[in-house]
Amino acid sequence: MMARVLVSGAAGFIGSHLVDALLSRGVEVVGLDRRRLGEHAIADENLAAAIGNPLFTPLRRDLSTDQLDDAVDGCDTVFHLAARPGVRPSWGAEFVDYAQANVLGTHRLLDACARSGVRRVVYASSSSVYGPANRPSHEDDPTCPVSPYGVSKLAAEHLCLAHARRPDSRLTAVALRYFTVYGPRQRPDMAIGRLLFAAYTGFPVTIFGDGSQRREFTYIGDVVAATLAAAYVDARYAVVNVGGGASVSMRGAIEEASKVTGRHIPVQAADAQPGDVPSTSADLTRAGRLLGYWPTVGLHEGMARQSAWLVNLSRDRLAAFTS
Ligand code: NAD
Ligand code: UGA
Repeated sequence: MMARVLVSGAAGFIGSHLVDALLSRGVEVVGLDRRRLGEHAIADENLAAAIGNPLFTPLRRDLSTDQLDDAVDGCDTVFHLAARPGVRPSWGAEFVDYAQANVLGTHRLLDACARSGVRRVVYASSSSVYGPANRPSHEDDPTCPVSPYGVSKLAAEHLCLAHARRPDSRLTAVALRYFTVYGPRQRPDMAIGRLLFAAYTGFPVTIFGDGSQRREFTYIGDVVAATLAAAYVDARYAVVNVGGGASVSMRGAIEEASKVTGRHIPVQAADAQPGDVPSTSADLTRAGRLLGYWPTVGLHEGMARQSAWLVNLSRDRLAAFTS
């Protein structure tokens, strides 16, 4: 069914893995991103395997300003992963970029999809739409984002659903609420990579709060499997959690990183950050039913794979872990 697709955010952590998986299945992929290849070390490394593949067309566009009709033209499915990510920096003046990339960018992409007759948009939503919870979050639970980032992701999710509810449109939508994704190519601002970097370099990782916060860490390979399956869900619209199957405290993650690397993890404490929820945990019942999804890679194995990737990183890319 998927002959030609567009992946937005193709040069990013999750987008580039999705591109590789699609190409390996013989799917023609247009890889849209605002990062310019040849000028951005992370983009170049993430897309190293895809570039040169005759099925892959990189396309430099900004979703919030550029023309998008030709980008989606002829695509059956659009995987929409482009966004300004990251919970903690979304307060203050930075929110302009979150609003433009995540809300306006999504709206403009959806409009182009509707005009071009795209059948399915798969949207990378986020566990951050839930807010504080003391049991596994279910898709029908009330949403309560506590960061501007979470608000922008929820707004974009609603834009996808509003488009899919339009009676005059053939566009359907599946929003996947990913829970803290990790693995090779993980963004350098995120926790697991920073723990592993600290283990190998002795450069201390800053832990926000007392380390009791819990996250349902989800391995990238499982996220890609769920995302591919979302193209085939038989529904006009759906919202589905994609989690790793277990919620772990930061203290537990530090211990695990120490076991995986055989090294001590030097840490320094800092204040808890506004916008960070105390705990995330996913109810995966719907993911199992609609996507045939169940996570297959646990934290120990996933960290070992990320660790093997990290030790071979270029100098340029390692520098990002300390900024
Ligand atoms: P990433 O930063 O590695 O990738 C995002 C990509 O989108 C980048 O390459 C960036 O250049 C591109 N982009 C941003 N704004 C754009 C714009 N206006 N036009 C074109 N391209 C633009 O982030 P990631 O961690 O791979 O996250 C991918 C998606 O998954 C995001 O939508 C994020 O909100 C969502 N998500 C991520 C996680 C996670 O744990 N990484 C969890 C939940 C949801
Ligand atoms: C991650 C992604 O960054 C978001 O884009 C995404 O939307 C979100 O997951 C999600 O699940 O929806 P987050 O859970 O904050 O956000 O992931 P990390 O950056 O890996 O942080 C995990 C925990 O470690 C947080 O409690 C954070 O405060 C803590 N942390 C992170 C530190 O203590 N120190 C650090 O250097 C980084």
